[in-house]
Amino acid sequence: MQTVMVYSEAGGVSKTTTAVSLAMTAAESGRRVVLIDLDPRAATTKWTRAEPMGEGLHIGAILGAQEDPIGWAKQLAAPSAWHPGLRVIPSARGLSNREADRDDFAELRLKASLEGLDADLVVIDCANRQGGPLTLSALNASDTVVYAATASDSGVDGVTGAQRTIEAFKRSRERLGAPVNLVEAGATVTRDGTGFMSYPETDAIDQIRALTTILEPIVPHLSIVPEVRLAGEWYGLYRKGNAIREAYTEVMRKVIR
Ligand SMILES: Nc1ncnc2c1ncn2[C@@H]1O[C@H](COP(=O)(O)OP(=O)(O)OP(=O)(O)O)[C@@H](O)[C@H]1O
Ligand SMILES: [Mg+2]
Repeated sequence: MQTVMVYSEAGGVSKTTTAVSLAMTAAESGRRVVLIDLDPRAATTKWTRAEPMGEGLHIGAILGAQEDPIGWAKQLAAPSAWHPGLRVIPSARGLSNREADRDDFAELRLKASLEGLDADLVVIDCANRQGGPLTLSALNASDTVVYAATASDSGVDGVTGAQRTIEAFKRSRERLGAPVNLVEAGATVTRDGTGFMSYPETDAIDQIRALTTILEPIVPHLSIVPEVRLAGEWYGLYRKGNAIREAYTEVMRKVIR
């Protein structure tokens, strides 16, 4: 099983779009996928219209568990109407309380919950936090990180901050003599605009390329994305969404083992 966290320390840089798209294109290619919404703002949950398996059975149940939540992800992963190969662990607003959670080993609960999960791939949609318990949970649970970036200054800043956090995480693990399994796959880049690439856009892409591998192709900017999000649908159902689906499918093949 591969666990991919989609991460950036900037807001609105396409983390959620990338996480949902990697999960769905992987499901469409025959993988058993679990998509985890780790953002208290719950954009992935709203977009996929994920409903918890029961009262309170959202990701907060794992992160706030009083006992060791070993293997809980399997019970919390809810089937998605989008695809038989896709399950979603929804988020909830109360999750923001977890930011104050300083319980011992709280940051290992997400990893423990994934034990024995009957999936080929887990994709985690992260919140745009600079470190903190939610990010630490994802860092401990994941073996692959994908940065999401727009071709803009905030896209570049988000990757820079994320890399700094990952370096600090790795250093602290090494100091403990603990193995570090997290590998950087690179960055997905989406455009903010349409038409010809402007100088600031190409400049931002060059800066991202200096930081990490760009997972080509650059994802085009199309209005179908915000439209389907409002409707709770997968853009792959629509002809207008084809270019984006093809782009993310190519990216998925580069990221997923
Ligand atoms: N390829 C695209 N084409 C058009 N719009 C897009 C595309 N990718 C993302 N968007 C839009 O950009 C906005 C931000 O995207 P998204 O929510 O994926 O970013 P995010 O990094 O998860 O944001 P947040 O920090 O709020 O979690 C959304 O309104 C989304 O619909
Ligand atoms: Mg998001």
